[in-house]
Amino acid sequence: MCGIVGRRNARIGGSHGGHHTTITGARVRDPECVAFLQWALPRLGMRWAGFRKVRRQVCRRVARRLAALGLTDAAAYREHLEGHPDEWVELDAMCRITISRFYRDRGTFDRLRDDVLPQLAAEAQAREESELCAWSVGCASGEEAYTLRILWRLAVAERFPELSFRIVATDMDEMMLERARAADFSTSSLRELPAAWRETAFEPAGSTWILKEAFREVDFRRQDVRRQIPDGPFHVITCRNLVFTYYDEDTQRQIVERLAARLTPGGALVIGCHEKLPEGARGFESWPAHVSAESPGSSGVWRVAEPQ
Ligand SMILES: C[S@@+](CC[C@H](N)C(=O)[O-])C[C@H]1O[C@@H](n2cnc3c(N)ncnc32)[C@H](O)[C@@H]1O
Repeated sequence: MCGIVGRRNARIGGSHGGHHTTITGARVRDPECVAFLQWALPRLGMRWAGFRKVRRQVCRRVARRLAALGLTDAAAYREHLEGHPDEWVELDAMCRITISRFYRDRGTFDRLRDDVLPQLAAEAQAREESELCAWSVGCASGEEAYTLRILWRLAVAERFPELSFRIVATDMDEMMLERARAADFSTSSLRELPAAWRETAFEPAGSTWILKEAFREVDFRRQDVRRQIPDGPFHVITCRNLVFTYYDEDTQRQIVERLAARLTPGGALVIGCHEKLPEGARGFESWPAHVSAESPGSSGVWRVAEPQ
């Protein structure tokens, strides 16, 4: 179950003392990689605390990059970065963490199903709108956006037959977007999805599962949320396990202001359950507790305030 939103940081992981990554000649020991990341990440507007537990993914990429450049250690790479400003773009791309799964942090999606989406839909209908719009920021291989589509179709749509549900999903990694469009998923990425929904929405295909066409309506776009955002407005924005985990507070503040500007008044911002909004984020209030919520206030849902 998620912790209380806005009151918890990403948990600090244990030591990985003896670990090192070796790739064709370049060897990066864990302490060396940690020191390198602690130096480099703030220069990219990122925060070390977010990467502590997942650093091996990044360290492996750094080792591979050293090998490609013919460098032998992280100190040499640091020197290389200092002399080659363009290399920062490469490093930035190496710092993407792409873990995701369907119905990730089930308390959050239960809340969206039972409370947030029906309420937003009822409000949109009362305003005689014909469409509810959602944006999944940092959508990885589409797991979050497709979960919204499945959830809408199987649990909410019937009550709002006059309302359509449009989903835009953005990621800066083209490879992830290609995987999203292919919609072919491993069993492990479906482990949190209610089994009945998996049976309805997917076709088994050997060791993987293919999402049926009827659940694929998502507009995937390549965008870097630091520079571009899709035209809104959106009734709901999911921005989980990206901005509020990996980026520093200044970057978080800049992005959260832009997200707020893309939300309809009273719209919902959904963040990761180990994340909090940055100090000074204005205009948000915790989504009001609902009887069906297992643990009120714990699902990472914020409501952007209506204008006074
Ligand atoms: C850890 S995954 C989170 C996926 C999903 N939101 C979830 O919570 O399961 C983060 C995703 O954000 C993408 N990403 C990283 N930086 C980004 C940026 N600046 N703009 C857009 N996407 C970004 C990565 O490529 C990756 O697919």
